[in-house]
Amino acid sequence: MRHSSFLRALRGEAVWTPPTWLMRQAGRYLPEYRAVRANAGDFLTMCYTPELAAEVTLQPIRRYALDAAIVFADILLIPHALGVSLRFAEGEGPKLDPIRDAAGLARLTDASSAAAKLTPIYETLSLVRAKLPPQVALIGFAGAPWTVATYIVEGGGSSDQAAAKLWAYRDPAGFAQLIDVLTDATILYLENQIEAGADALQIFESWASGLPEPMFERLCIRPAARIVAAVKARHPHIPIIGFPRGSGVLAVRYAAETGIDAMSLDPSQPIGWMRAQLKRPIALQGNLDPLALVAGGEALAAGVREILTAAKGSPFVFNLGHGIIPQTDPEHVQTLVDLVRGG
Ligand code: CP3
Repeated sequence: MRHSSFLRALRGEAVWTPPTWLMRQAGRYLPEYRAVRANAGDFLTMCYTPELAAEVTLQPIRRYALDAAIVFADILLIPHALGVSLRFAEGEGPKLDPIRDAAGLARLTDASSAAAKLTPIYETLSLVRAKLPPQVALIGFAGAPWTVATYIVEGGGSSDQAAAKLWAYRDPAGFAQLIDVLTDATILYLENQIEAGADALQIFESWASGLPEPMFERLCIRPAARIVAAVKARHPHIPIIGFPRGSGVLAVRYAAETGIDAMSLDPSQPIGWMRAQLKRPIALQGNLDPLALVAGGEALAAGVREILTAAKGSPFVFNLGHGIIPQTDPEHVQTLVDLVRGG
């Protein structure tokens, strides 16, 4: 088993100083990323070209000596592999050919052909693993079924996920079929990522906010529990991090009922409060406001200090409460790493 402070923390050890990585640590805020991206042309080409994806995965590790690398890919590759057309319009975010009914569902391929189409991602993981220092862990990931469904039903991003919610209210059985095929494909995709070299997994439930409790239970907790149980049946030692962003107090149920090993908190979920609510002692991760990292200076120093004070003595992984914002100054990231490591 890999000797990694990050994996020890996920398994419940209060490692101090806390291991650190940052969501979206590979990305446009880094000049070396923008250089690779400019040559590749578009984002999807980068995701599907293992040499390029491996290179940008490693860039933040070289620069900041972070404790974990996360494979460079995207949560929307699963719908793409299921047959949903996908493009990233410059400056506008993702655009998908929406699915809103049974006829749309019938156009999707099956889960195992979808997972088989994602071979380039597995190759990226193998390439990265071969080049990473042994003590640096490699994280595989997928979007959670509900979050991925919101993009499929809307045909892109949305602020209120209204189209997906309306389908779920009006036709619960039809919507459940979409969630089920996404769950099946995600299980196979994550298992393949482990077999290619992932040491841990993260499930991104980025749009868990605003769901009434019964819907959160049905669309977020149950599919996550099914994914965790299936993956753990074959790979019991691979820790799984859940990130139910914006779930507020419902995160307490998410931690108790999904079987995850660790939970990533968003900036609004206090670490001390969450720890006191946990019914099962799992590791926590988070949760600096990405805008405090953009601001730098005292806002950054105070934000890091407060998190370290709240987390000290417990199993914890330092991270942001959401992805790095492209406007972030790379120097501020160095400052963050130095602050966490007490430099
Ligand atoms: O964290 C990492 O460094 C690994 C790579 C990673 C990306 N996306 C690369 C990416 C990960 C883990 C993701 C997850 C992801 N993708 C999520 C969940 C996390 C979150 O932020 O809530 C979501 C919702 C997506 C969907 C997605 N991908 C959107 C909405 C966008 C467009 C927004 C934007 O920032 O332009 C993307 C594109 C994307 N995914 C980029 C990167 C580096 C930017 C692409 C570019 O122009 O180079």
